[in-house]
Amino acid sequence: MYVTSLRLRDIRIIQSCDIEFDKGVTVFVGDNGQGKTSILESIYWTSHAKSFRHVNVEDIIRKNCDSAKINIEITDDLRPQDIDITLNRIGRDNVLVNGQKLRKNSDLLDTLRVSIFTPDDLDIIKGSSALRREVLDDNLFQISKKYIAASKDYSRSLKQKNAYLKSDDFDKVVIEVLNNSLVVSGSVIIKSRLAALNNFRKVLQDAYDHISGENSQILIRYISKIFSNDHGEDKDPNEDISNEELQAVFLSKIEEYSSIEYRRGHSIIGPHRDDLAIFIHGRDSRTQASQGEQRSMALALKMAFHRLVTQKTGDNPILLLDDVFSELDLGRTHRLVECLPAAQTFVTTATDIPVSLKVRETFNVSAGVVTKSKIS
Ligand SMILES: Nc1ncnc2c1ncn2[C@@H]1O[C@H](COP(=O)(O)OP(=O)(O)OP(=O)(O)O)[C@@H](O)[C@H]1O
Ligand SMILES: [Mg+2]
Repeated sequence: MYVTSLRLRDIRIIQSCDIEFDKGVTVFVGDNGQGKTSILESIYWTSHAKSFRHVNVEDIIRKNCDSAKINIEITDDLRPQDIDITLNRIGRDNVLVNGQKLRKNSDLLDTLRVSIFTPDDLDIIKGSSALRREVLDDNLFQISKKYIAASKDYSRSLKQKNAYLKSDDFDKVVIEVLNNSLVVSGSVIIKSRLAALNNFRKVLQDAYDHISGENSQILIRYISKIFSNDHGEDKDPNEDISNEELQAVFLSKIEEYSSIEYRRGHSIIGPHRDDLAIFIHGRDSRTQASQGEQRSMALALKMAFHRLVTQKTGDNPILLLDDVFSELDLGRTHRLVECLPAAQTFVTTATDIPVSLKVRETFNVSAGVVTKSKIS
């Protein structure tokens, strides 16, 4: 699948733009603050129905405007499709796929898959566990409808339980009901994560070796209090654990920690607190790797998940690279470019384009106006 055209109206600094694309690598060049990332943000929105910048709709709609529009045309060379999104300052978004109103925004992923790399990704390894969970979740959302449904159920139950734990009420029966629903959806989440990580080590090691130019030894572990032993030490879960077994272990851990949860006023056991630990040559990458190793591993992790989605769906996601070259040294830049899959890629840069990048087309972005570059 690849994008053939993008039309924007009143997206951040961009009043209007209408661009056509082909397969291959498209580059957006421009000084800082001119609207390059806003273009990638719009493409990302047509797949995820949200921004990767963790902002609200009001932030995206151009100042003093009531609404904004994103229209994208895509094709797999057999069937052209189009996604038309109206973002409203007041009221709900309106999303049409091939002229039909969408039932759920998460169904957008059925039409278009998009992966993004940004300089913020370089913090995935050393940052909080929430960043690593987000990468894992984002990729599983692209692979599994069951995962999306379980995550929605889990978030709803978690919100209810946290609200109840904060309230002055305490009814054992209510807590039991809430715990049971957390355990049912939470076990689906954990099982899917473990299945995705099974065989993932090899893909990650290949990606890391490619980006770092080393021969490494990589270990990836799923860390969860649910599987910790009696002394609270992390233990590796059995990847083949049955659903019933998992639900039973999960529930007994919640019960074990119930008085602490009650005291703290929020839920502390479950996949919303779990983490990934990645070891390079036996050293924990979060606490013992150098800054360069952490950057290589962050890119490798995203690249490996991108490959996983490609394998599982049989379709190359569209790749968005937002300003990543300014943050990487020349060696890593070359190697990242080399291992980009042959999908369509959109790149933004305020600096030079790496010479090794085979660019199909370049657009200049200036004060929100996008024009085809005469050089490419
Ligand atoms: N809602 C909005 N309405 C109008 N302008 C906005 C809005 N939100 C952001 N902007 C402006 O849009 C501009 C473009 O932002 P964007 O992040 O796309 O730039 P960029 O070209 O990627 O810059 P950089 O190279 O610094 O990353 C910024 O100058 C910002 O102030
Ligand atoms: Mg930018």
